[in-house]
Amino acid sequence: MNYKEEILKLKNELDVVLVAHFYQRDEVFELADITGDSLELAKKVMESDKEFVVFCGVGFMGESAKILNPQKRILMPRIACCAMARMIDESYFLENLKKMNEAGISNDDILPITYINSSASVKARVGEMGGMVCTSSNAYKIIEKGLKSGKKIFFVPDRCLGQNFAKSLGLKSAVIGDGSNLKEADIICYNGFCSVHQQFNIDDIDFYREKYPGIIVAVHPECDPAVCDKADFVGSTSQLIKFIKELPIDQKVVVGTEFNMVNRLREKNTYILSSTKPECPTMNETTLEHVYNTLKSIKDNKISELTEIKVDEKTRYWAKIALERMFEV
Ligand code: 13P
Ligand code: SF4
Repeated sequence: MNYKEEILKLKNELDVVLVAHFYQRDEVFELADITGDSLELAKKVMESDKEFVVFCGVGFMGESAKILNPQKRILMPRIACCAMARMIDESYFLENLKKMNEAGISNDDILPITYINSSASVKARVGEMGGMVCTSSNAYKIIEKGLKSGKKIFFVPDRCLGQNFAKSLGLKSAVIGDGSNLKEADIICYNGFCSVHQQFNIDDIDFYREKYPGIIVAVHPECDPAVCDKADFVGSTSQLIKFIKELPIDQKVVVGTEFNMVNRLREKNTYILSSTKPECPTMNETTLEHVYNTLKSIKDNKISELTEIKVDEKTRYWAKIALERMFEV
């Protein structure tokens, strides 16, 4: 079967919008009606008037779309869970709050902020405690706003993002469980990380700088703080795309983020900051066949429970508040 042709036909027939994150496989990405980073996708899905949203990304992205658009039916050809989002659930969230209480910090002095890469239930806990969501493209502003409360920020789940933004704001950070003094920190990070961005290291930066003097190093803030410190540019997915596309064509750049995105950025002079291929395994799970099957299930009125995103109403209520606080900023 020619999946591409069949998908295009079904898209024309159905009241559906096809959405893809920048990290999706090329063949899926190029058929999408809406593409973007996690923040752009959340916003653009809200603007769509289609009943069905076929979302090619990872679980927390589909969940965010459902939280913000309860009237729409959000289907994911693969409900693949981001490895970082999987590192924290409600019970770990509460356990870590307890550790902060044991270190002498009361809940009244804590404002939680969750990276959008987290489950709906973690977002809901954060919302209930007066906190908000951020993405890598707005974390700086959101943390700045959070600090105005005079409270310590409990940042979950990505310790790298928390540490990197603390540094750029001139603040002290600590990671729960690594022996650092939590009371002295302005931003207290949960000990989660991205298994893909964790692969980039400073030896590879040295290697590229030695091999191509003058090369620019651009990385995502999910990379380790030591890597971000050595880079020339640190930016979210969309910020990286903009930065790299605006470079003169003969300027060499080496990029520390997911392979699919880097690979389609620029024809020449663009390298990946790794000797292996840093593909996000969960983003790569979605294939054209999965997309076709999902569209066909809409046409045949046989939608599988395995593809439809559902969020219970109480969770949705508080998670939506946490997301809306982000949009307000
Ligand atoms: P963006 O928010 O930049 O789209 O990134 C999401 C992500 O999972 C990065 O690893
Ligand atoms: Fe999650 Fe990392 Fe994949 Fe992004 S690249 S979706 S943070 S596992």
